[in-house]
Amino acid sequence: MLEALRPKVTLILEDKEIDTTEKLQAVCTLLQENVPYYDWVGFYFKNGDKEELKLGPYAGAPTDHTIIPFGKGICGQVAVSNQNFVVPDVKAQDNYIACSITVKAEIVVPLFVNGKNIGQIDIDSNTADPFSEADERFLEYINAKVAEIL
Ligand code: SME
Repeated sequence: MLEALRPKVTLILEDKEIDTTEKLQAVCTLLQENVPYYDWVGFYFKNGDKEELKLGPYAGAPTDHTIIPFGKGICGQVAVSNQNFVVPDVKAQDNYIACSITVKAEIVVPLFVNGKNIGQIDIDSNTADPFSEADERFLEYINAKVAEIL
């Protein structure tokens, strides 16, 4: 399923008719609609010179957490660790920002441009412990492709 989505992501990112924001929006929607355990899909980016993340395009329920300070929550931790963060059970995390009570698991993968961590893709799941290494490799692929157009 994830493998089949890769060429579709590439097609979206190569589309000359739409701008970067529309491309990222289309990628979020593609993933959220086609992966049953991806309930919320969004991009966060470093907010200028500030040590905080700002919400970019996303698909799923609106969130109050449009700004996240570095170090705070799963997203804020990835902004400083530069590492993938797979959370099988959000209830087991102390440093976690709840967006919705239905969320059971989360995965955040940093997005590098020229080796610099400039943002991330964040997926929330209403399914417990749904993520495997296949999700990590898939989301790393997406971020690498997105990096080429930023
Ligand atoms: N749960 C995230 C906050 C962002 S929402 O999932 C959209 C966190 O702990 O950083």
